[in-house]
Amino acid sequence: MDRLVITGGKRLSGSVKVSPAKNAVLPVITATLLAKTPCLLEEVPALADVETICSVIEYLGAEVVKEGPGLKIYVPDIRQTEAPYDFVRRMRASFLVMGPLLARTGRARIALPGGCAIGSRPIDLHLKGFCLLGAEIIQGHGYIEARARKLIGSRIYLDFPSVGATENLIMAASLARGKTVIENAAEEPEVVDLANFLNAMGASVKGAGTKVIRIEGVSELYGAIYNVIPDRIEAGTFMIAAAISGGEVTVENVICDHIAPVLAKLQEAGVNVVRGDTWAKVVAPEKVKPADIKTMPYPGFPTDMQPQFMALMSVSRGGASVITETVFENRFMHVNELKRMGAKIKVSGRTAIVQGVKQLTGARVKCTDLRAGAALVLAGLAARGETEISNLQHIDRGYESLVDKIKSLGADIKRARGA
Ligand code: EPZ
Repeated sequence: MDRLVITGGKRLSGSVKVSPAKNAVLPVITATLLAKTPCLLEEVPALADVETICSVIEYLGAEVVKEGPGLKIYVPDIRQTEAPYDFVRRMRASFLVMGPLLARTGRARIALPGGCAIGSRPIDLHLKGFCLLGAEIIQGHGYIEARARKLIGSRIYLDFPSVGATENLIMAASLARGKTVIENAAEEPEVVDLANFLNAMGASVKGAGTKVIRIEGVSELYGAIYNVIPDRIEAGTFMIAAAISGGEVTVENVICDHIAPVLAKLQEAGVNVVRGDTWAKVVAPEKVKPADIKTMPYPGFPTDMQPQFMALMSVSRGGASVITETVFENRFMHVNELKRMGAKIKVSGRTAIVQGVKQLTGARVKCTDLRAGAALVLAGLAARGETEISNLQHIDRGYESLVDKIKSLGADIKRARGA
């Protein structure tokens, strides 16, 4: 198994370009199942998750062809309406094919996505919405089967502003008969990006980015040319890399409004952030100050930045930080690994109290999930000595060319090919 080997203590400097957003491109790729003519996504990130979702839609009947940094996707007809367990267990987001399959064919049989390290990840809100749109749902043998002669528009209230449920239901409603209203919808930028792509395909989706989304079903959707938004979580990760290493880094291809809570918390921690139209320059102080965060659905502090921010708070000076995780029930898997590097963290339920230490020390640690892995890389940049990180499959899922990008900023990092 490959390992990352980082020798800490180097101040990062220079500039780094953020890739297209993983959590925007995945639902956009599933949405291509809705169009009978070709789509062109002009630039997609080279990620394991993108490869997985492409394998899923190819299995269902899509033709996927690389076009430079992008993908041409053509789905003249759906050959298969079942997404087997092997795909779904590799990546839960495969469940996002249910909405498009139901909308286009009236049938879908998807393996139940299991939980993962950060939580049980239920899909009850997806299923409740599909039922309200007129689908019959049958559960059994580890699969969810949905059938509907024709989806009929409905009013759907989401008990929690679930990103995936909002995305799945927008896609299903786009070809339903009549009007659908989704209330208490997720407001994430990735939801807006999906709505913009669907509208480019001929859909009628209004209000994305607010709590109430209105979809007027249409009879057919057509291929479109599209570019997804930059990855706000990758951008935030690099900003923290600058802050934790005492460096000065310009992060390019950023939509600062998408990451406002992180910029605000970095400022509160004493990190100087200059915001440009499509960039942000981060200048670290000698020592960061403690700051409290509470993760919330957008526009709150993003849960996907909580592990990375905890790594930064592990080396703050002058007090303790209170980190509350309200979105997932088990998203502190990185705590024990950070403690192996000398971090002082106490967890009680969904709250972690982080007492800053003068310096972390390098150690052998392992990734438990994608963002936990990113947090360990950040901690390794600041630690004295050598940090060795294993289970890199988690990082490969969500960060394009992470080692090259961080090395280009002056870090002493290499990927050791494993036995
Ligand atoms: C998306 O996951 C992202 N993944 C996650 O990013 C992100 O952490 C999450 O949204 C929250 O922002 C992709 O976009 C591919 P949710 P998703 O449905 O859609 C509960 C990363 O690191 N819930 O908004 O699965 C659920 O248990 C990943 O890039 C239900 O109760 O998230 C959780 O507590 C990690 N019932 C909360 O909602 C449901 O039917 C948020 O889940 C669905 C969700």
